[in-house]
Amino acid sequence: MSDYLTKLNTMRTTSILSVKTESPSVKTFTMEDRLCAKAKPGQFLMLWIPEVDEIPLSILSAGDGQVSVAVKGVGDATRHLHKMERETLVGIRGPFGNSFTETRGRVLLVGGGTGTAPLLFLAKRLAAKADKLSFIIGAKTRAELVFLKDLNSICSEEAVLGTTEDGSFGIQCLATEPLEDLLHKQSFNMIYTCGPEQMMRKVFDLAERRRIPMEASLERLMRCGIGLCGSCVIGGYRVCRDGPVFNLAQLIEMKDEFGYSKLGFDGNVIPI
Ligand SMILES: Cc1cc2nc3c(=O)[nH]c(=O)nc-3n(C[C@H](O)[C@H](O)[C@H](O)COP(=O)(O)OP(=O)(O)OC[C@H]3O[C@@H](n4cnc5c(N)ncnc54)[C@H](O)[C@@H]3O)c2cc1C
Ligand code: FES
Repeated sequence: MSDYLTKLNTMRTTSILSVKTESPSVKTFTMEDRLCAKAKPGQFLMLWIPEVDEIPLSILSAGDGQVSVAVKGVGDATRHLHKMERETLVGIRGPFGNSFTETRGRVLLVGGGTGTAPLLFLAKRLAAKADKLSFIIGAKTRAELVFLKDLNSICSEEAVLGTTEDGSFGIQCLATEPLEDLLHKQSFNMIYTCGPEQMMRKVFDLAERRRIPMEASLERLMRCGIGLCGSCVIGGYRVCRDGPVFNLAQLIEMKDEFGYSKLGFDGNVIPI
């Protein structure tokens, strides 16, 4: 292991600086960490919640010695974290993984749920570079449509298309439904996506058909975060080390698994 990776992989204890409620199920936590403060959009960190578990989380923002993550309460570790307040101690390793390539031209971002977090980080970086930034953001309800205000201030308001499954905001449909129409009407140099894997699979199918370059940030079960344990394998890749961001050519290689199956906690293949 290189000296630099050893440094990133060394757990640092730090205290939570602030907690912000983004939606009924999502909170943003900000911590001080010199190494993660240098992270690029797409990278993730491993957060140790003392006496509970260590979990991978995408980086929402980084800079000025601080790093933030947006966390959905789904199980033991995330619900414990949601109960934590300012000044509680946590452990951090990272930042790990690759990052999105920062493209100029006409860019489309498609985010679902907390998958919007790394895309917001990316959109902030692309705002000054891209010719046009368009965003499709989807959630189950209006209350769960996180970061809409931030996106409206980065992209022009008409370039942000909100969708909800219950129709409480924007178009009532899945985020991928208006995508086909948009791709028919406008041309894009790059599509970035992060969110539920079935959503990303639909984005991939459309991009592949039209040969539009794309990058997707994948999630798999992660334990070591540095390419050693094998729990995050997809195709010939380890998501923690070779990803989490994969391009169109790599997604084509893993087509039989992407959107269909993953390894479970016991190492067996389970459907998504
Ligand atoms: C690269 C990456 C980035 C992620 N970014 C975010 C993020 O920005 N915000 C967010 O809310 N969630 C994110 N997740 C998912 C997050 O790690 C899981 O929700 C969390 O680990 C669940 O832990 P739990 O104990 O609360 O739930 P559990 O009840 O243990 O698990 C609920 C589900 O979460 C997944 N999960 C559990 N443990 C892990 C693990 N060690 N690695 C990967 N998945 C796991 C499994 O699919 C499981 O079925 C990310 C996952 C990965 C791999
Ligand atoms: S999490 Fe261990 S190899 Fe990826």
